[in-house]
Formats: sequence, structure tokens, C-alpha cells
Amino acid sequence: METLYHEFERILVTEEQIQERVKQLAARISEDYAGMGSIVLIGILKGSFMFTADLARHLTIPHYIDFMALSSYGHSAVSGAVRILLDLRADIYKKHVLIIEDIVDSGNTIDYLYTVLKTRKPASIKTCVLTQKEGKAVETHIDYLGFKIPDVWVVGYGLDFAERHRTWPFIAELKRSAYIQD
Ligand code: PRP
Repeated sequence: METLYHEFERILVTEEQIQERVKQLAARISEDYAGMGSIVLIGILKGSFMFTADLARHLTIPHYIDFMALSSYGHSAVSGAVRILLDLRADIYKKHVLIIEDIVDSGNTIDYLYTVLKTRKPASIKTCVLTQKEGKAVETHIDYLGFKIPDVWVVGYGLDFAERHRTWPFIAELKRSAYIQD
């Protein structure tokens, strides 16, 4: 029988480390935005669904949630192209916006989002990113960062491999045998 956690090599960030860091990030964000009214958290689907929910739970400032879904063509012929699959429900004009992402890899997605959302004239835009691949520290718009992680295939806590392993409470390196037939 296939067990739930059979396809990982090693845990990179434990559940406890994630939860501790999420609390710290929420505390900093709450402090930075104190007195600025309600902020809009924009969770980027699907990857950030857990992070957005956990972070929101620890915020002590008024906020509401919206979501966007994007599709990236980063590994295909149209390198770096991003497309909006699901847009925000509400207008962000003159709102303080915080984009919530699970991972920055090439940086294409967050750069695209930043550019697109800026044209809608919010009062401000910042980004809160749980993980960034080490060695790929491209110049991106990251205001709050959870962890730097190795440049390997990661799964769990929102991150998937062909839609699998998204709901693991920790972040792990995917087993090589899962995606390479030696
Ligand atoms: C992942 C992740 C980020 C993006 C980061 O999304 O959630 O949005 O890739 O990569 P980049 O920095 O190279 O642009 P993905 O397209 O896999 O969709 P998903 O969140 O629905 O799994």
C-alpha cells in the first residue's frame, strides 16, 4: 500500500519551523501595517493556500483575503511568460496590498504580479514569500521572506509534484526516483 509520505528524500523545513516562522512574519507584518487600516492579502493559488491561511490567522491588524491563480510557462518554449487564470474579486485601488507566495524560483511570477497589480494603483504593494531557492537570488520584489532553501525539487506545505504532496505540513525534497527513471 502506498503511504502518504513515501516520496521524499529529506525534510528541509519542519512543521514546527514553518509554524514558528509564520508567527514571526505575522508579528512583523502586523507591526509594519499598524494604524494603516485594512490590508488586502492576495494569496497566489494554488501553492500559497496553506501559507495564506496560517499567516492570516496570526495577523493582529484588520485584513481581508482575495486570491489569484496564475499559470506559468517558465519551463516551456515561451520562457518566463505568465498568464492570469483567476483574477481578484475586488478592486485594489488605494488599498494596501500584500502578495502571499509559497515560493520564488525564477522570480517570473512575482515580477509579473507586481507589475500587473501596480497598474491598478493600490496605495502600496509588498510581498511575503515563504521560500526562495538559494543561488537564484534574482532581483525580485521580496519584502518578507520565510526561508532560503536549496535549489532542489521541493514539495509540501502548498508545493506540489504533479498535484501530489501539496497538503503535507512540512517542506521536503522530492525523491529523485519520483521524477527520473534511472
Ligand atoms: C509555483 C509557485 C509560484 C511560482 C514560482 O506556481 O507557487 O507561484 O511557481 O516560480 P517562479 O518564481 O519561477 O515564477 P505553479 O506555477 O507551480 O502553480 P501552483 O502554485 O498552482 O502549483
